Amino acid sequence: DDRAADPFEVARTAAAEIAEKTGVARHDIALTLGSGWAKAADLIGETVAEVPATEITGFSASAVVGHTGSIRSIALPSGKHALVIGARTHYYEGHGVRRVVHSVRTAAATGADTMILTNGAGGIRETWTPGTPVLISDHINLTADSPLEGATFIDLTDLYSARLREIARGIDPTLDEGVYTQFRGPHYETPAEVQMAKAMGGHIVGMSTALEAIAARQAGMEVLGMSLITNLAAGIQKTPLSHAEVLEAGRDAEAGISALLARIVAAL
Ligand code: 6GU
Repeated sequence: DDRAADPFEVARTAAAEIAEKTGVARHDIALTLGSGWAKAADLIGETVAEVPATEITGFSASAVVGHTGSIRSIALPSGKHALVIGARTHYYEGHGVRRVVHSVRTAAATGADTMILTNGAGGIRETWTPGTPVLISDHINLTADSPLEGATFIDLTDLYSARLREIARGIDPTLDEGVYTQFRGPHYETPAEVQMAKAMGGHIVGMSTALEAIAARQAGMEVLGMSLITNLAAGIQKTPLSHAEVLEAGRDAEAGISALLARIVAAL
C-alpha cells in the first residue's frame, strides 16, 4: 500500500536511480514540460541521457497524449545540469496527490533548487489568442486537496517567484501574467465555472501545476510557472473545447514557446 511508504523516501530512491542511470550525480534545475513545451528539451542544452519514466520508482506511463514519458538529463551551456520531466501524473488520473507531486519531490532530491512548471491551459482573458505564453503569477487551487500531510503550515506568498518572472520578462517584455486556477478535471469547466474562476480572480484554467508548485515550495525550491494558452475557456470561446484542439494549438506554438523557454533558462 502506497500509504505505508514515506513519499520523501520514495523520491530519494527515484533520485538515486536517476543519478545512476544518467551518470549525473546532481541536477541544478528541473523542468516539467506540459502540452506544447516539449521541444524546449532539445534547445536548452546537450542531452546527456534519456530514461523512460517507467524505469524510475514512482513514475508511471504517461497517461496523456502530449507528454513524452521520458526523463532527460541535459547539460546546460553554463555547466549546470537540468532535469527535464516529460511525464506528468495528473490529479484526475486518480492515483492520489502523492503521485502527482512525486516528480517535483524527486527533482528536489536530485539537488534542483529551481522548478519550472509548464502546461497547456485555457484562457479567460479574451485577448489571449491560442498560442500565447503567459507567466503564472499566483494560483487558486480548486482541487480541495494538498500535497502536504499533517500539520505542515507553510507560507505560499510569492510562490511563483517574482524574481524569476522578472528574468522571464527581461527576455520577452510582452509576456503577460495571470492567476492559474487548477480544477480537478478531466472534464473542462462549464461556462458557469469559468465565470466563477474569473470572479475569484483567476485568468487561466487548467488541470495541473498548483499542487506541484505547493510541493516545490515545501521542498524549498524557487518556482517559475508558465502556461501556453491553447484555447479560450468554455463560454469565453464560442465553439466546443476538444483535446485535439489543445494538442493542435500546442503543436503550432511549440517552436516559438520552446525557444522562449530556452532563452529564459539560459538567463537563470
Ligand atoms: Cl479550458 N480548462 C482546463 N481545465 N484545462 C485546459 C483547458 C481548459 N484548455 C486546455 N487545458
